Amino acid sequence: MAQTGTIFFGPVIHSLSASELEIVPFALVAVDAEGKIAAFLDPTNFTQQVQETLEELNFPPETTTIHRLSPGQFLLPGFVDTHNHAPQWAQRGLGQGMHILDWLDAITFPNEARFGDADYARRVYASCVDGFLRQGVTAAAYYGSVHGEATKILAELCVEKGQRALVGKCNMTRNAPDYYRDASVDESLRVTEECISHIRSLDQDLVRPVLTPRFAISCDADLLRGLGDIAHKNPDLAIQTHFNEAEQEMAATRALFPQFGGSEADLYAAYGLLGPRSILAHCCHMSEHELERVAALQCGVAHCPTSNMTVGGGFMAAPVREFLRRGMKVGLGTDSGGGFSSSMLDAMRHAMIASHAREAAAPADKGLAIEEVFYLATLGGARVCGLEDKVGNFVVGKEFDALVVGTRGREQGIMTMVEEEEDSLRTVFDKFVMTGDDRNILRVYVQGRLVKGEA
Ligand code: GUN
Ligand code: FE
Repeated sequence: MAQTGTIFFGPVIHSLSASELEIVPFALVAVDAEGKIAAFLDPTNFTQQVQETLEELNFPPETTTIHRLSPGQFLLPGFVDTHNHAPQWAQRGLGQGMHILDWLDAITFPNEARFGDADYARRVYASCVDGFLRQGVTAAAYYGSVHGEATKILAELCVEKGQRALVGKCNMTRNAPDYYRDASVDESLRVTEECISHIRSLDQDLVRPVLTPRFAISCDADLLRGLGDIAHKNPDLAIQTHFNEAEQEMAATRALFPQFGGSEADLYAAYGLLGPRSILAHCCHMSEHELERVAALQCGVAHCPTSNMTVGGGFMAAPVREFLRRGMKVGLGTDSGGGFSSSMLDAMRHAMIASHAREAAAPADKGLAIEEVFYLATLGGARVCGLEDKVGNFVVGKEFDALVVGTRGREQGIMTMVEEEEDSLRTVFDKFVMTGDDRNILRVYVQGRLVKGEA
């Protein structure tokens, strides 16, 4: 059957692995009507190759759109934010420097409590999803608030606005104020199941539910057990939580669950919450036992350097080099609003800075290079979120989640100016990653659908 399609022609940069950045100066990317990448070529003769591709793919020329990128523009895969709190969108930048439990009490819980009001939730979540899309976040793992209705609204807005997302109702039954927690373990589990079925009734290609116990401190043992049961009954369901984030949090966890001797890996594993579909935010402080256990259980790590260096208590540089050395799945998260910035470009830069601090303390842990932090922000994040078959780079058969980046003239914004005659594509890419911002992200596509910019 003939289908409508889109053909992009221009430079493409994407990761093939943590250390391999592929730069194709003149690529042809064909996207079919379902938003899937139907062809990815490095053509020698553009006109001839376009003709052949159209015929081979059965794209009729009259319904196929051809985008030839302008000089200075290139295509990147969309960013995957592996750890993000949608109800903290309106509090970013507040409480910087506070220790984690104090910050939750003083800043976060009062803010998140406001999402009991569905109108407020709709207004803030609409701005949040728009804001992330504008910055090229084509997929996000979102924590919602405790509220079922607001969480459903968040998932609906992601579908409406075209953002790929994991969306979870946050579970908390204790160590939270009366005005902001689940009424009981049963209620928490009931609302969780209701949210899961609602999210599954939406566009399943775009949004998925995720179990979201906030962290062990806010969960009764019965709640963790109940969530473990839900995970067991739903083998495809993702799970996210905060893990070994900060010393204050780790001490409180140890006091509440002394039977695990301070190992959060043993704790969450005992409740059936660790496995290949687990997304563990932070993992700043890891014992050898925990590194081994988390690696063996194939959990993914959401590294959130912006937040680790500004909220939580101290300057926390997670051992990312060690995670990569062990072949663990690692991605980047903004942890917005623990992280003051909602930019994945900032997350990449901060990951480099944190890794250099780590190298200063542990010289064997070499700091991260640009291609590595870019991998973490794209393909690495897709792996952490269980989306590597769908997104993360431009492999044929994956879905087209992509950014068109502009770097010249009016498109330059405030990024380092490009020397048109001298700069290689790699140099322009480095300049964008280190100094660009949303002004350079001209168009954003999710599943082939334009979600930012002019067609
Ligand atoms: N630990 C428990 N809740 C949170 C949160 O909202 N943000 C961060 N950074 N850590 C947490
Ligand atoms: Fe967080």
